[in-house]
Amino acid sequence: MLLFLFYLEIPATLCKVCTIFKRGVCLHGEGNCTAEEGPGCRTSDMFFFNVKDGWLYNHTQLDCYDKCRAWNLLRGHFKVSSFCCKGRDFCNTYRGRSLHWKNR
Ligand SMILES: *[C@@H]1O[C@H](CO)[C@@H](O)[C@H](O)[C@H]1NC(C)=O
Ligand SMILES: *[C@@H]1O[C@H](CO)[C@@H](O)[C@H](O)[C@H]1NC(C)=O
Repeated sequence: MLLFLFYLEIPATLCKVCTIFKRGVCLHGEGNCTAEEGPGCRTSDMFFFNVKDGWLYNHTQLDCYDKCRAWNLLRGHFKVSSFCCKGRDFCNTYRGRSLHWKNR
């Protein structure tokens, strides 16, 4: 009973893991993970710079990270844009560029 109450008070969120996620579909490295504390379901959009077209979205990566926060990482011709969520199972599949991806 005590254990049951403990679980009610600290609900873990189930998140999706995927190495290559595009248009809401996981193409490679599918799995699950749980975020125990904080907004730990992570969505990371990957962009590459191209002289002709500028920043091009390539794919999205999904995973869990306990210290997850919204941020942008810029390194040379490579950019990662991350979002975090919790409280809804697989919430990290409803975010990011993957859902709005257009073939080009
Ligand atoms: C992930 O969790 C869902 C829902 O619980 C389950 O249906 C699915 O089989 C799990 N996938 C993996 C790879 O464990
Ligand atoms: C870009 O996305 C494709 C899938 O469409 C993937 O196979 C490839 O590894 C990605 N490129 C990089 C450098 O991550």
